[in-house]
Amino acid sequence: MNASTAGTTPTVAEDWWRNAVVYQIYPRSFADANGDGTGDLAGVASRLPHLASLGADALWISPFYPSPLADGGYDVADYRNVDPRFGTLADFTVLADETHRHGLKLIVDLVPNHSSDQHPWFREARAAEPGSAARDRYIFRDGTGPNGDEPPSDWQSHFGGSAWTRLPDGQWYLHLFAPEQPDFNWDNPDVRADFLTTLRFWSDLGVDGFRVDVAHGLVKDMSEPLRSQPNLDKLLPDDGSDPLYDRDGVHEIYAEWRQLFNEYTPARMAVAESWAPAARRPLYARADGLGQAFNFDLVNARWDSRQFRTIITTALEDAARCNASSTWVLSNHDIVRHASRFALPNETDLDAWLQSDGVFPQEDRAMGLSRARAATLLMLALPGSAYLYQGEELGLFEVADLDEAVLEDPIWTRTGHRLKGRDGCRVPLPWTEDGASFGFGAGGSWLPQPAWFGDLAASRQDGRKGSTLGLYRNAISLRRALQSAADVEWIDTPGALHFRRGQWESITNFDTTPIPVPAGTVLLGSNPAFKEQTDVIPPDTTLWLAIKPDAAGEG
Ligand code: NOJ
Repeated sequence: MNASTAGTTPTVAEDWWRNAVVYQIYPRSFADANGDGTGDLAGVASRLPHLASLGADALWISPFYPSPLADGGYDVADYRNVDPRFGTLADFTVLADETHRHGLKLIVDLVPNHSSDQHPWFREARAAEPGSAARDRYIFRDGTGPNGDEPPSDWQSHFGGSAWTRLPDGQWYLHLFAPEQPDFNWDNPDVRADFLTTLRFWSDLGVDGFRVDVAHGLVKDMSEPLRSQPNLDKLLPDDGSDPLYDRDGVHEIYAEWRQLFNEYTPARMAVAESWAPAARRPLYARADGLGQAFNFDLVNARWDSRQFRTIITTALEDAARCNASSTWVLSNHDIVRHASRFALPNETDLDAWLQSDGVFPQEDRAMGLSRARAATLLMLALPGSAYLYQGEELGLFEVADLDEAVLEDPIWTRTGHRLKGRDGCRVPLPWTEDGASFGFGAGGSWLPQPAWFGDLAASRQDGRKGSTLGLYRNAISLRRALQSAADVEWIDTPGALHFRRGQWESITNFDTTPIPVPAGTVLLGSNPAFKEQTDVIPPDTTLWLAIKPDAAGEG
């Protein structure tokens, strides 16, 4: 395969995703139309005006398929249907039509590494004999040890504990996540064929693209003896030699998908959720593969201009290497919200902080929100796609003090209550400052909302000068005009991250003291306090400036 394979490179008209602002919806927690406490597709449809007025180009909806919700829907029991809690296929069709009517594209989540243990194929496999065709669709092995009662290998699940679970007949099956999420065997032709059917099913229903879950995990080295891979947190090798992740074989699968995507007009886009090493990200993002890959490096960046600059430079170079566009993510449904991350000292262990119910250390929320707004404005100034997570446009913080009794993330139970998991960024959104569940729905909310959600409700911020919601709207609207600007050209300004794109500059003050405003006309600032101090940029602030054409050549 070759990145420039003739005939597979999308045309410009099909490239809407290259510089898109994509808004992620976690459907359980976005908006609840039927008042049962769980968000639904009709709720999403009812809030499309919010997304349109935000200026988003596309929405990506996390899984809404039939699921026991053992992992919030990333345990799919039927890939071509809608869970009754989220609605019906008819609701989906209405949502797709309405999304397009609002000028937005629609991306759905595809979960190909594993299904739910309630998927008919796994139920069949469980009931079938060892060595049967039904078991071959998943990854079954005999155990080790004298009676086979030790797991086939030392592989660990991401959510804690062994990645193998034993069935009563003695065989073990592999699950890189929860036991309720058995891994598919991608060497099995039924699996390959069925996912092509699923991709076609949703593409025919009008979806514009797919976010591909655990895209680097589908192909495993199952040659005996199984190799040891005890430490999931270590960095993956950059030669594809890990037994479980980022193996070259995954790209054959994506090449086949790409052919299917390109049968549609416009071609369906796809973005890989792959935690592959930076050097191998372009393999996922090339035109004859998925086309785009998430870059999560900003998620791990602390408030440090050098770190930001290195991450941005590397990401832009990697994307250029495969003629893709870079992606930027500050928050999503798996990580502590960035307004809280930036409210904590740089060295904070976020897991330990969550374990302390967000008490040690205490958040400095004013600082966190300033830095979050500055980081967002910086991110939106960059070329490439910006993926936003629901609620970040309201400046929501992590709900770190959820009562242990309400936690649903499998990480909580799988780690023996050592880690609280990801529920704190999944608390249903506050739409109104009062009323039942702050306007999330007519009833309650599946996770309790804290009282301070009311202060950050969308209704409270709508039209209010200096609000975070207003900042997102202004920035996304300006960005649209500016995205055709030139590539990033760095300007060395002490204490700051400063770059130019054509006649436009973005400067972020990472220092603890104010820095001078560069020459130019201020277009937008992340800090509402900026106006009173027109000649200096306060700490934790980003400004966008227009510079005069004759000044653009200097610097
Ligand atoms: C990544 C998803 O973002 C996460 O929420 C999920 O738990 C795992 N993949 C497993 O599907």
